[in-house]
Amino acid sequence: MQILDGKLVAQAVKDDLKQKVTILKQEGKKTPHLAAILVGTNGASETYVASKVKTCEEIGYASTLIRFEDTVDEATLLSKIRELNEDAEVDGILVQLPLPKQISEEKVINTIVAEKDVDGFHPSNIGKMVQGQPAYIPATPYGILLLLDHYKIETKGKHAVVIGRSNIVGRPMSILLSQNSPTGNCTVTLCHSHTKNLKELCLQADILVAALGRPEFLTVDMVKEGAIVIDVGITRVEDKTKKKGYAIKGDVAYETVAPKCSYITPVPGGVGAMTIAALMQNTYQAVIR
Ligand code: GUN
Repeated sequence: MQILDGKLVAQAVKDDLKQKVTILKQEGKKTPHLAAILVGTNGASETYVASKVKTCEEIGYASTLIRFEDTVDEATLLSKIRELNEDAEVDGILVQLPLPKQISEEKVINTIVAEKDVDGFHPSNIGKMVQGQPAYIPATPYGILLLLDHYKIETKGKHAVVIGRSNIVGRPMSILLSQNSPTGNCTVTLCHSHTKNLKELCLQADILVAALGRPEFLTVDMVKEGAIVIDVGITRVEDKTKKKGYAIKGDVAYETVAPKCSYITPVPGGVGAMTIAALMQNTYQAVIR
């Protein structure tokens, strides 16, 4: 069993981007600038956004963090997005999800101009991605592809089973894994809460992507010997023995599943680290394009 070390690969991606940004600066070109909008004080969202801003600093990007109270009205938020759309200084815009109930995520996503949609959530980017055209690819699936690519994992002809059909991870992941590309080329089954015989389908998987957000859902009896397991889960579970009062749990029961796999991503240090690296890659592309 080999661990797919997201931390290590993410560092390599970030080091590469750091060098590229130094060159951009030396050539007098524009420094990539990411604007992140955070609404409310959700603990996990706070952590993710702080990490995105910190990574910008590490690489040498400019960043702006814009915060709103969780009572903010939709019009105010949309107006800020339009302002950022027009701001030539800003290359990439992200609005951290989820959003409070009074705000339509769909309207927010549709308001960000596709050229600055470094999350790859805009219908125009999703449409292009589906057709294999150049587009921003949602950061988590993109990060997983970078990880598969780094470890030279052959996907051709393999059966990939993706659990979870979210617009952010499961659905785009299923499409990308089925594309005729070195990191796609699988036969893909997309499973969700209404899938019958989930265990039987999982047992057929050469590549198993767990992205449903239920801690330790995938157990050893659901995994074929030698499978490649990608764990997208990052749920906070109360744990009084930890300083923060919680532990981060993946969707995979790691201790028992890992010995059965050929490759597996740990949590933390797997997919999460890659997501931020992929976002940084998209932000660089926003300048280059
Ligand atoms: N919430 C969970 N994952 C993501 C992500 O990749 N981007 C944004 N904007 N919000 C998220």
